[in-house]
Amino acid sequence: MERVPICLVGCGRMGHRHILAYRTLEDTGISNVDLIAVCDIREENSQFAAREIERLFGRRPLVYTDLDLVIANPDILAVDVVTDGSTHHQVAVPALTSGKHALVEKSLSITIRACRALIDAAADGRAILATAENYRRDPPNRLVKAILDAGLVGDPFMMMQVSGGGTDEMAITPWRHLKEKGAIGMDTGVHYADIIQFYLGEYD
Ligand SMILES: NC(=O)c1ccc[n+]([C@@H]2O[C@H](COP(=O)([O-])OP(=O)(O)OC[C@H]3O[C@@H](n4cnc5c(N)ncnc54)[C@H](O)[C@@H]3O)[C@@H](O)[C@H]2O)c1
Repeated sequence: MERVPICLVGCGRMGHRHILAYRTLEDTGISNVDLIAVCDIREENSQFAAREIERLFGRRPLVYTDLDLVIANPDILAVDVVTDGSTHHQVAVPALTSGKHALVEKSLSITIRACRALIDAAADGRAILATAENYRRDPPNRLVKAILDAGLVGDPFMMMQVSGGGTDEMAITPWRHLKEKGAIGMDTGVHYADIIQFYLGEYD
């Protein structure tokens, strides 16, 4: 199987979890990706990720703080974009345009215009754009899907996801409280929008 050298872009909380997941994937023996580089505009975060990769994989990756240098490296064939949702298109559009594949964390982006820019950047087929939407792969959600598909609960015609909250605790990171970053409704709501479609089919 062809190996795909990748760069992790965005080395915060979820970026770290992606590193752990790449290690788990490697242990299965079916991985075809090599995490050869990391990039974060905050150097301490990219250095932390590099140390983690060295600890888990026994080799130190290239460390970048400038996306242009990632794009310019012909050895990097794909980027794993784990920055906050408002910046996904700023990273993935130049990557896709330069022919590098992009796995982009949910939300694909926080505006329809930016999502369309991402899809357009991959339209010529030279590079693959994928969204790291993980909820539909969770075992409980796959079980519900199997139950629905088997008709065990009849023919559902509506599903609603309702969330409420209201403490003054910070939800994971400060940007999840900022409207211009999509806020928590977009950050978590996109999972449920996808799950409803997964269970019941395309939206009308
Ligand atoms: N699928 C899931 O279950 C799940 C769970 C948590 C987070 N996420 C997603 O992961 C992404 C990151 O979330 P997080 O909690 O790790 O946020 P975070 O703030 O902890 O990390 C984001 C990192 O990106 C860096 N960054 C920002 N802009 C950048 C740029 N232009 N170039 C390079 N680096 C940049 C920041 O410095 C930071 O280190 C979000 O899209 C979030 O929705 C998904």
